[in-house]
Amino acid sequence: MSQSKKLLVIHGPNLNLLGEREPGVYGTQSYASINRDIQEECRRLGMDCDVFQSNSEGAIVTKFHEARGVYQGIVLNAGAYTHYSIAIRDAISAVKIPTVEVHLSNIHAREEFRHHSVLAAVCLGQISGFGPMSYLLAVRALAAHLEQEG
Ligand code: DQA
Repeated sequence: MSQSKKLLVIHGPNLNLLGEREPGVYGTQSYASINRDIQEECRRLGMDCDVFQSNSEGAIVTKFHEARGVYQGIVLNAGAYTHYSIAIRDAISAVKIPTVEVHLSNIHAREEFRHHSVLAAVCLGQISGFGPMSYLLAVRALAAHLEQEG
């Protein structure tokens, strides 16, 4: 019998404040409520899901290392680290777990320093601009990818 897939969602800096943080940009849905919706979507797709949040680059890198042999896919919103963390990019490359990059806002429609992601090239793909739904679309994309992989 095939075991159910395990997915890890990683939220980077300041995302624990979703709901109260710049609601005009990120919406009013709370961090806890977004995670409940993610868990619900994973259940619907028959996958297990753990959620991790950290404001520290090193803790995110370590979480990638610990994900080896445990998770088959990762949904990552690295927050501001997206734009400059070579350490997180290297961690994604090192562990080779399919990772989908997520942003609530459309980073390409914002300040120029947000247009570039140093992570995108080592991720399966990038979903940006759909608010909390970005996470749900990423979960679906990963489920379809993992299904294809067998
Ligand atoms: C973000 C976009 C980043 O530029 C920003 O630093 C964040 C959130 C998003 O989800 O839209 O913290 O990743």
